[in-house]
Amino acid sequence: MDVKLLYVSRTGFTKQYADYIADKLKLQAIEYKKGSGLNKNDNIIFCSSVFGGNITELTDIRNEVDQRKIRVLACGIVPPSSEVINQLAKENHIDAEQIYYVPGGLDYSKLNFLKKSILKMVKSSLEKKVVRSADEEETLRRLNVGGSFVDFSYCDALIKDYLNER
Ligand SMILES: Cc1cc2nc3c(=O)[nH]c(=O)nc-3n(C[C@H](O)[C@H](O)[C@H](O)COP(=O)(O)O)c2cc1C
Repeated sequence: MDVKLLYVSRTGFTKQYADYIADKLKLQAIEYKKGSGLNKNDNIIFCSSVFGGNITELTDIRNEVDQRKIRVLACGIVPPSSEVINQLAKENHIDAEQIYYVPGGLDYSKLNFLKKSILKMVKSSLEKKVVRSADEEETLRRLNVGGSFVDFSYCDALIKDYLNER
């Protein structure tokens, strides 16, 4: 099956996954730019980061390609779980089966004032919670320490699915 591997990455974490997948599937990882000549029937692996629950530029790409042909590798700071995938599916109007979720990272040196302020607000709302789940506790820890939480084993399922379909 012919597949295009596209990515959107602001601080480089999602790109690390795209490069890893490119190597494993012998594809070229190409930065997604809206309106760059995709065909409606292209099969797409779309690697993109999560900001405020939103999968960046998913709306744009699904205006260009049949949504059923897109698999999304969503990269965020929250620890992976089926709840995260279901939530992303709901908020981004896409089937949960089409989403693979991977942990990214926080490079505070690359974030502007607005983005740092948003993360501060998320942090303080988590701090104010009297009872936090284990995942919320881990998210808070990640927000505090920053850095990379990239773990390529989380994209093995996507790689396996594509190898099986080839
Ligand atoms: C302003 C802002 C909002 C974010 N919102 C979310 C979010 O809703 N859920 C999540 O899991 N991660 C969130 N993140 C974390 C990013 O998804 C994470 O840093 C990701 O690795 C960025 O990928 P990139 O380096 O490819 O751009 C947010 C980060 C910033 C700066």
